[in-house]
Amino acid sequence: MAHPFLSSLPSILSFVLFVFFVYPVILASPSAQATAPEAIVRARADVPSAWNGRPEDDVTGDSYSRTHFTPYYVPTGSVSLDDEDPLLTYTPDDAWATARHPALVGRSMHTTSQTGARVDLTFSGIGVEWFGSVSAKHGIAEVYLNDTLNTKVDAYHATWMKRQRLFGIDHLPFGSHRLSIVNTGKKRTKSGGTFIDIDAIVVNPADNSRKAITQRHLGIFGSLFAPPPHTEQPPQHAVVETNAVTSWSLSQSGETGVHAMQVSVISATQVIIIDKVEHNPLTINGHPAWGALYDVRTNKVRPLDMHSNSFCAGGSFLSNGSFINLGGNPVVGDKTGATDFGDVNGLQAVRLFHPDLCDEEGRGCDIVEAPHKLRLASPRWYNTVLRLDDGSAMILGGSTRGGWINNATTNNPTIEYFPPKNIHGFNGVPIPSLFLAETLNSNLFPIAFLLSDGRVFVAANQDAMIYDWKAHTERRLPKIPNGVRVTYPMTGTAVLLPLSSTNNFASIVLICGGSTIDDTRAGYEIDSQEAASSQCVRMELSDAGIERGWEVEQMPQARVMPDSVLLPTGDVVILNGAGTGIAGYGNVKDQIGFSNADHPVLTPVIYRPSEQSGSRFTSEGLPTSNIARVYHSVATLVPDGRIMIAGSNPNLDRSSAQYETEYRVEWLEPRWMNDDETRPKANISVTGMPYGSTFTITVNLNGGGSNNIKIALMDLGFVTHSLHMNGRLVYLDFKHEGSSLSTLTVQAPPNPSIYPPGPGWIYVVVDDKWTVASPVMVGDGSDPPEDLGALESMLANSSVDEASGKTVTGVGEGQESARG
Ligand SMILES: *[C@@H]1O[C@H](CO)[C@@H](O)[C@H](O)[C@H]1NC(C)=O
Ligand SMILES: *[C@@H]1O[C@H](CO)[C@@H](O)[C@H](O)[C@H]1NC(C)=O
Ligand SMILES: *[C@@H]1O[C@H](CO)[C@@H](O)[C@H](O)[C@H]1NC(C)=O
Ligand SMILES: *[C@@H]1O[C@H](CO)[C@@H](O)[C@H](O)[C@H]1NC(C)=O
Ligand SMILES: *[C@@H]1O[C@H](CO)[C@@H](O)[C@H](O)[C@H]1NC(C)=O
Repeated sequence: MAHPFLSSLPSILSFVLFVFFVYPVILASPSAQATAPEAIVRARADVPSAWNGRPEDDVTGDSYSRTHFTPYYVPTGSVSLDDEDPLLTYTPDDAWATARHPALVGRSMHTTSQTGARVDLTFSGIGVEWFGSVSAKHGIAEVYLNDTLNTKVDAYHATWMKRQRLFGIDHLPFGSHRLSIVNTGKKRTKSGGTFIDIDAIVVNPADNSRKAITQRHLGIFGSLFAPPPHTEQPPQHAVVETNAVTSWSLSQSGETGVHAMQVSVISATQVIIIDKVEHNPLTINGHPAWGALYDVRTNKVRPLDMHSNSFCAGGSFLSNGSFINLGGNPVVGDKTGATDFGDVNGLQAVRLFHPDLCDEEGRGCDIVEAPHKLRLASPRWYNTVLRLDDGSAMILGGSTRGGWINNATTNNPTIEYFPPKNIHGFNGVPIPSLFLAETLNSNLFPIAFLLSDGRVFVAANQDAMIYDWKAHTERRLPKIPNGVRVTYPMTGTAVLLPLSSTNNFASIVLICGGSTIDDTRAGYEIDSQEAASSQCVRMELSDAGIERGWEVEQMPQARVMPDSVLLPTGDVVILNGAGTGIAGYGNVKDQIGFSNADHPVLTPVIYRPSEQSGSRFTSEGLPTSNIARVYHSVATLVPDGRIMIAGSNPNLDRSSAQYETEYRVEWLEPRWMNDDETRPKANISVTGMPYGSTFTITVNLNGGGSNNIKIALMDLGFVTHSLHMNGRLVYLDFKHEGSSLSTLTVQAPPNPSIYPPGPGWIYVVVDDKWTVASPVMVGDGSDPPEDLGALESMLANSSVDEASGKTVTGVGEGQESARG
């Protein structure tokens, strides 16, 4: 009987021949691969080249090496083992051949087509990724961890692609794990072979093991980034079990695939996730994705094919239900450039998304960009977007380029509208704001709320004002007390407390956290260990309230970059953030990895606005997480009533060193929510909700007291950088229908200043327990006012990419002192 290897020898030979001779030809042929850079550029041919912020030809210029994107990427803090590393054991030895080619990791890979051929690696750490190639001659492998089957990987692909990520797992319990990859000898019918390749294995070691592995490999593979030693990293375990007496539970399930810098609920099942351009593990059309739809029921993610760099964009819904994501960053040339990603300058981007096109699984919809007709009048990085009472969006402030803390050179102290308006003599062009000019330096991502009288509250740095957008007047408010700065990078969080007819829809704002660090100090003078602020301030925005001024309270813990999630009960869950330092990365001295902040605050606290001052905070029954949520973290209420917690990435690109790029999702929910017997239920058949109209709902009180019912109409907002843009809760008036205690006649909001026209969610609250939410369209669902003259004037008076004119070569944020 022939030796099994001998029988497979011819095919291995043909494979090696293929790698050597045919593969380079394929690489050079633009039509052969959908993922070749040429193809990416062609697919974008409808985009005017100026939108790239540089001539197309620059792609071949000096700062770009025109290499083809492959998903092989080694995050900071991880270690790549080449296929020839002695830690990898190949059996049987003679079933494996080595292919050599300059395009492979370490110029080589191991390959086999033999059934049962395996590679084993015992590694110490918490994560591992397998990279190899795929082709029309590849078959199916099984991946085992500690001899337990984890998954099967089908390496078939119609075209040849190298350095593909075939398997990845992270956040294993820290310890020693055995990874085994076994060739099953099986293949899908159309595959011409059963090849399986090992090009590299990337290991994510936990801190204590990292030193050993890096020392071992420094000599062989050159420079490896060794992060500064730091002891306060939270333990690396995925699930937090809270004890039975607590009233909330926190669990970890799901990963976002793209880092969750920005999130917004777009349907009962889907949350849109928007990141900056970086090496996320989720890919689409041959490049890493930086947008995705996350299914809250199944924890599955679907990548979105975004075009422009959405780093630090703002967002909102419009009155017709469309979602917009505005502004961003230029192409970041030397790190996450167009060559790998095919991205274009996002500083003036309008990214339009129609949630109505998505099915329940989030299919059928994607982000639309058409800069020749849809763009901002001026470049904006860190701009705030607010839906107004006419259903359009106001766009406030931002920087004219990526950077860090704002200054007079980079400031964009203007307001514009989407769609553009001809207003106050500014025909679609940006309208200057004295307030935004005078609040430097720490004034990015200004806090803004539409007040119940149609005017707009704005806070930036230590200042606040009411902007009457219809009259173009600014009314200054008392400064935030005690020198606390509340906007980026001294980031605090803010909520408009619930609006209700019981106090004639009084608008009361609450702002929590931030920092007193002097915003004129240079980054290198600021320390990651300087304490954040624990201050919360609140003020009623009526003449009498403004006269009384800010009411000052203290949170139990100081927090910079907290998130505030309004519950249907009117309570506010404050979570995430850090106890010291400031927002951003790569700027301050004593950085933790790249993080400007340290001491993540791991326990949420609830603010109860209806209690007396001094007893409004409680952490009773709230579990403590072990996942740090520092810069670029988010949290949002979702329609099923839970709080989704995601993100954290104080890094230039995906990193597995402290503080790592975090993809894990946590869910915070009151324990009663899983008790079907006691959770109230409601039937809400209304979908459109004209102002002043009435509608009927039926409620299953589930034993709850019928005297303690509230109907909460909520905008779940657009969440990024501690801002919950458009976050809003309006309690709707209702009365019982006839003698039935569970049939209610509900009054829609009286006018568009109380709740601006656009999508919302209705939760019925019975005895402080809330139902699953039902979607409604407040207003008539029509488009926001469109002024074609203002649009023409905006297009005539602006060009795309007004600020930079070209690709920024650098790191986007944190250029002053970025390392690595
Ligand atoms: C594999 O076994 C080791 C030692 O028993 C253990 O520490 C580790 O957690 C296991 N890994 C997995 C993925 O089960
Ligand atoms: C303003 O900020 C930009 C971007 O961070 C920086 O390049 C520039 O030097 C700063 N200008 C001044 C005057 O500080
Ligand atoms: C809601 O409607 C469904 C189907 O019509 C019905 O089975 C259920 O009892 C209703 N629930 C309430 C609270 O009225
Ligand atoms: C909603 O309005 C915006 C702004 O006018 C428009 O661009 C968008 O296409 C509209 N959405 C739909 C679904 O028509
Ligand atoms: C914008 O451009 C138009 C020409 O299309 C011009 O008439 C108008 O004055 C410009 N507006 C501003 C504010 O510059």
